[in-house]
Amino acid sequence: MIGIHGGHRLEGEVRISGAKNAALPAIFATLLTPEPVVLRNIPRLLDVETAVELVRALGKEVRWEDGVLRIWGGEELCPEAPAELVQRMRASFLVLGPLVARTGSARVALPGGCALGPRPVDFHLQGLARLGAQVELHDGAVRAHAPRLRGALVYLDFPSVGATEQLLLAGALAQGTTTVVNPAREPEVVDLAVLLGKMGAEVHWGLDRVTIRGRPALSGAEHTIIPDRIEAGTYLLAGAITRGRVRACAACPEHLRAFLDRLELAGAEVAAGEDWVEVQGPARPRAVDFRTWPYPGFPTDLQPPMVAFLALAEGRSTVTETVYAARFGHVEPLLQMGARIQVAGNVLVVEGVERLRGARVEATDIRAGAALVLAALAAEGVSFVRGDPHLARGYEKLGEKLRALGARVWEEPD
Ligand code: EPU
Repeated sequence: MIGIHGGHRLEGEVRISGAKNAALPAIFATLLTPEPVVLRNIPRLLDVETAVELVRALGKEVRWEDGVLRIWGGEELCPEAPAELVQRMRASFLVLGPLVARTGSARVALPGGCALGPRPVDFHLQGLARLGAQVELHDGAVRAHAPRLRGALVYLDFPSVGATEQLLLAGALAQGTTTVVNPAREPEVVDLAVLLGKMGAEVHWGLDRVTIRGRPALSGAEHTIIPDRIEAGTYLLAGAITRGRVRACAACPEHLRAFLDRLELAGAEVAAGEDWVEVQGPARPRAVDFRTWPYPGFPTDLQPPMVAFLALAEGRSTVTETVYAARFGHVEPLLQMGARIQVAGNVLVVEGVERLRGARVEATDIRAGAALVLAALAAEGVSFVRGDPHLARGYEKLGEKLRALGARVWEEPD
């Protein structure tokens, strides 16, 4: 549990870590080759530890030192992913494509629902079937067989991040070319495509599609993971919500366009260079409306933190969540802190209040946890945010980084 004494202005610089959601698929991409792959800028996070545990269980050797992962070996991969690891983290389902491509047959448990509502994997399965895999569901697990995957054209009904990554991973070892029409274009997906390119696959991004020409075998590679845009957005909001000034270094402002645009409309001052962004918070934010949308739209992962900020705005903000059916785990605890928010279907109506008050609250997922920490930083009095294990899944050295910016934050025994 984290204790937070609110009301202190955050000032200073914070170094942004490598992106969790780029690191995870990159780690699973190492299953595609026994040759060594070196990944830099890897954040120390619970989810990354789960991914490392998973590739080790499947037969890889891993060394992890100073933010650098070296992964090699596994000429013979184990074709069954331990259910416990897949259920701990949905992204683990991405091992299905590489395992089928390498071993011809794989078994991976279904990841199931989560705190964000039902999250099916139908696009992943339909896509792999198009590539020639025989896919069956048995006892809560997926079995996929294919002596050799064949490139094919796959249309995605929604630009799913995971499904696009699954198809890029599988397509990298498929015979011929795989085309994904309506792919996700999140920077993390592009980062995976760059890594696969370094490993020998040929990737091209078109107006409405991405194509990947597979190879019979892929080589090792070295790759530096992109900065975590969601972590950067969270610290910028931590500055803004406390009327402070925070500079996110080792960041990529280009990946934060939609978010920075809304932040400026809300009255924050934004300055940016090539690899840094600085935000000065307004005396009081103005209400702004936004909807979450696939990249380059406003990222759903910053919706809960942005709602915490707008809870203190002057006026009414309307927030529409279009990526998930139900990503509102932050609303109930924010109400406990004095926010005024109504939920109607996938829309939040946030009536800004002048102040929030400290409370004892609990996070149900990573980004709800971030939203509650932000609210607590601005609230009057002391808050206790129970964020385990969610915050440790997504934010490296959270307490340390916040304290360096001047926040009064401490670890509190549960
Ligand atoms: N969807 C389907 N069928 C599918 C796949 C997805 O209906 O086969 C739906 C989902 O239920 C959801 C929407 O499509 O409503 C978007 O899901 P997507 O596949 O794009 O998300 P994901 O790959 O499961 C990644 C991130 C999430 C982030 C989303 C959206 C990783 C490891 N996770 O999830 O990050 O919210 O993209 O940008 O990359 C987080 O970091 O806190 C987090 C949840």
